[in-house]
Amino acid sequence: MRPAWADIDLGALHHNLKTIRTQAGKKRVLAILKANAYGHGLSRIAQELQDIDAIGVARVDEALQLRNAGVTQPIVLLEGFFEAKQIPVLAASNIQPVLHTKHQVNQLLQADNLPQAMRVWIKVDTGMHRLGLNLEDVERVYTQLKGSRNVVGEPVIMSHFACADEPAHPQNQVQLARYAQAVKVLPESVTSMANSAALFASLAPDYDWVRPGLSLYGISPFPGGVGRELALQPVMNLQASLISIRKINQGESVGYGAAWTAPHDTWIGIVAIGYGDGYPRHAPQGTPVWINGKEYPLVGRVAMDMITVELGPHMSAQLGDTAQLWGPDLAVERVAETVGTIPYELLCNVARRVNLHYIDGHDVSGLGEVS
Ligand SMILES: Cc1ncc(COP(=O)(O)O)c(C=O)c1O
Repeated sequence: MRPAWADIDLGALHHNLKTIRTQAGKKRVLAILKANAYGHGLSRIAQELQDIDAIGVARVDEALQLRNAGVTQPIVLLEGFFEAKQIPVLAASNIQPVLHTKHQVNQLLQADNLPQAMRVWIKVDTGMHRLGLNLEDVERVYTQLKGSRNVVGEPVIMSHFACADEPAHPQNQVQLARYAQAVKVLPESVTSMANSAALFASLAPDYDWVRPGLSLYGISPFPGGVGRELALQPVMNLQASLISIRKINQGESVGYGAAWTAPHDTWIGIVAIGYGDGYPRHAPQGTPVWINGKEYPLVGRVAMDMITVELGPHMSAQLGDTAQLWGPDLAVERVAETVGTIPYELLCNVARRVNLHYIDGHDVSGLGEVS
């Protein structure tokens, strides 16, 4: 019997990248691997994506972890540097910052004695109003950066959709129009607009780079959708063993707060996963758990190390059987919807104590990068 672990299906990862490349045509792919590759293990996923055009992360630490692991692909730092002293560190490791404030731009322009000039991305705010330069500043900043000794190559001009997961949302057209305006004056510039949802909804067909995150892991970015509908396969299979099975009588309650009471005599299975592993504590009664080819309802409160499921009065499960919390038989999209969150959050929250087992074809490598 084992506590929680996650099989990471590298075959599915490669399949998803192929689907993304088919969808993207000739566009270059910036694979988004921030937040520990959405819970799938940053270094190992990066090592697997040998022929990717670039890897995107959010934190300097994540970028340096990749370089320390021997990852040589181009790395883009999506939020750029937070302090000027990080600039030479990034330059030395050949990490490409996204510049989204004038402050960052000035810090880079003023930096002295960088070990080498850097490739940079410029983020323009087209309506998300989170990160990004104002439209009217883009041309000047682009020209300044192109003229700087600290910058090499053509800056990529990027923006990010607020509502791509709702393709018909009017905000998408507003953002596209503003983006077109920003890049029109810079005909040479390299462009990037689409995350997974925009890519699969063909919202920004004309631009050079796509930036898929969730779809790489086989998950649909569209509410109510599942990856399979987009020819994607889930990469993560989160599992745990059934460590106890017990009979309880009608009227007896289960777990903290006595939150669930058996409506009839029944069997309860205790599964070795809890919120300490990243399983959502607010999962309601009835959240599906997959055991031996069948769904069973979660009952009672999620605890730190275990959950309880009702196996029913005519139970056939055995001690040591494997429960799947989400994966190929139980879509994380569905679990997320039941729990009232998004698949991104469930995947990113998988805790460090959950061992990741990388499956290469049919072979369980058991490398178990502890993420
Ligand atoms: C700037 C940027 N591009 C692309 C992505 C990838 O988005 P998704 O996982 O929806 O494909 C993200 C993720 O939040 C992002 O912040």
